[in-house]
Amino acid sequence: HTRLLVKEEHVSTTSAPQQQVKPITIIYGSQTGNAEGVAEEAAEIAKNHGLSPVVLDMDDADLTQLSQAERLLVITSTYGEGEMPDNAQALWDDISSDTAPRFDKTYFSVLALGDTNYDDFCLAGIQWDERLEALGATRIADRVDCDVAFESPAQEWIAETLPTIAQKGSNGQSEVIPTSAPVATKKAKPKFTRDNPFEAELVNAYTLNKPGSGKETCHYEFSLLDSKEVYDAGDAINLISVNRADLVEELIALLGARPEQQEQHDGHTLALQTIFSEHLEIRLPSKEFVAEVAARSGDAQFIAKLEEDAQALNDFIWGLDCVDLLRKYAPNAFTASDFIRLSKPLAPRAYSISSSIKKHENQVHLTIASVRYEQENRAHNGVCSTFLADVCKPGDKVKCYFAPNKHFSVPENHSAPIIMVGPGTGIAPFRGFLEERAATEASGDNWLFFGDRQKSCDFLYQEELEQMQQSGLLTRLDLAFSRDQPQKVYVQDKMQEQGAELFSWLERGAYFYVCGDAFRMAKDVDKALHDVIAKHGSFDEAEAQAYVASLKKQKRYVRDVY
Ligand code: 2AM
Repeated sequence: HTRLLVKEEHVSTTSAPQQQVKPITIIYGSQTGNAEGVAEEAAEIAKNHGLSPVVLDMDDADLTQLSQAERLLVITSTYGEGEMPDNAQALWDDISSDTAPRFDKTYFSVLALGDTNYDDFCLAGIQWDERLEALGATRIADRVDCDVAFESPAQEWIAETLPTIAQKGSNGQSEVIPTSAPVATKKAKPKFTRDNPFEAELVNAYTLNKPGSGKETCHYEFSLLDSKEVYDAGDAINLISVNRADLVEELIALLGARPEQQEQHDGHTLALQTIFSEHLEIRLPSKEFVAEVAARSGDAQFIAKLEEDAQALNDFIWGLDCVDLLRKYAPNAFTASDFIRLSKPLAPRAYSISSSIKKHENQVHLTIASVRYEQENRAHNGVCSTFLADVCKPGDKVKCYFAPNKHFSVPENHSAPIIMVGPGTGIAPFRGFLEERAATEASGDNWLFFGDRQKSCDFLYQEELEQMQQSGLLTRLDLAFSRDQPQKVYVQDKMQEQGAELFSWLERGAYFYVCGDAFRMAKDVDKALHDVIAKHGSFDEAEAQAYVASLKKQKRYVRDVY
C-alpha cells in the first residue's frame, strides 16, 4: 500500500495535556476526502487559537460523547441526490432519531461542501445545521455552503469560526474520544492543486467501443513524467479543460458581442473570447441564468416551472444548453456582461483513474464517455469529454491535479477478497484495482460485475479482462449486457443471480465496491445488496440494514458514484 502516510499528532489522545486546554471536536462526513482534508486544515489552525482539536470520522464518533462536546465543528459533503456521505449515515441516523441526546452545552458551526449542479445542494450540511440547533446547540457562526471550488470559502469559514468558538465554553481536559481508535494517518498535502496544476502530456488515446456501438467511450493515457506525482489506484484526477471554440463563437454571436471585446471578470479586464474559453461555465446554464432567462422570456409555462420545483424545472429544460435557452426563450435579451454576471467559473472535471501506477510507470489512464447528443437541431458536446476526444492530440498537454479518494482503494490486507460492481465507465477504477492487485501479487480473490449495452461492441477492455480471467487474477467475471436480449439485464440482476456466492464472499470478509451512475445504478445495486444479504443470511429487513451499515463502517462497502 503506497499511500503517503504521515503521523498526525492531533488525533493522538494518549498524552494528557499538562496545561489547561480548550478542546474542540471536528467531525467530518466525507465521500472522497475533501471534507476530511478541510477538517484537518481546521485542526491545524485551531491550535493557533489555543484550542486542542480532535478530528473524527463521523463513523468513529459516539453520539452520547459528542453531545458533551462544548465546541463542535461539523464539516460534511453531500453526495448523490442530497444524501449523507457513506461515513456519515450511521451517525446521522442516530442524531436524527427521537432518542438523540440534547446538545445544550454545545457551541457549533457547520461547513457544507456540495455542488450546485445538483438539486439538493449541500443538503447534508443543512440537515446537520438544523438538527444541532433543534437539539439545543448554539450556532456561533452561520453555516457556509461551498460549491465545487470549496477551498477559499472553506478557509474563510475556518478563519471566522475558530476565534469565535475559542471564546466560548470552558477550559477543560475532557476530549471526545473516538469509539474506535482512528487511523492516525493522513495523506501528505498534494503538491499540485487547482491553482497550481501540472501539465500532463497525452501520450495515447483510443476508442474502446467497436463500430456499431451507440456510445463513444475513450481510453486516454497521460504521462506524469515531469510532475513526479504519484497516485493510488482508486484516486481521481481533475482535468482543467477549455470550452469548445464552436460553442464560444456561437454564444458570442448570440449575445451580439465581439470576441475581442473587453469585459470585466473576477476583477480582471479580459477579451470576451478568453473569458468564455477559459474562465466560465458556458455550456450548462447556472440556476441564476435559468431564472433570469425565464424572467426575461415572459414565457408563462417556463415561469410556472420555475416556481414549481427544481425537478419540474429540470425536466422542462432537460438537455438544453445556454445557447438553446437564449435562442429559444430570450433572443437579444442579454448582453455579454449580463451573461458573465450570471455564470459560474468553469469547474475542473474529476475522473476516476483507470490504471495502477505500479503497472504503468509514470502514467495515468482514464476511461471517459464522450458526452454528445443532438437537441434543438444542434450538436451538443460535453465540455471536457469532447475537449479530450476532439481537440487534444497525442503530444498535447492538459492541466490537471489529483483528487485523492481516501477510502476507495484496494484493501491493505492483500488476502481480502474484493467484489467490484462497475458498469459502463464505472469499470475505470476497477481496471486500476486489478492492475494493482496483480502488481502487488495480492492473493485475495477478485470478482468483477461489468455491464454495458451490447457485448459485441461495448465490452470495454474485453481483451484485458479476459486475459485477467485466464491468468486467474480475475476469479469471477459476471457480465450484464442490457441490450442483447428483449428484456434489460443489469449488474444488479447478476448480483441477485449469484446471491448465495456473493453473500459467502461477504462472510469471508470481502470488500464491496461500486462505481458509476449514482442516480439509478448505485441505488439499484444498493437494494440488490440488501436483498442478497437478507435472503442468503436469512435476515429480516432491519438485520440486513444493520449488516450493510456495519460493512460501511468497516469501509468494506465503498462507493465512487456520480
Ligand atoms: P441501458 O442503457 O441499456 O438501460 C452502462 O451504461 C450500462 O448501465 C448500460 O448497459 C445501461 O443499460 C446500464 N444501466 C442503465 N440503468 C441502469 C440501472 N438502473 N442499473 C444498472 N445498470 C443500468
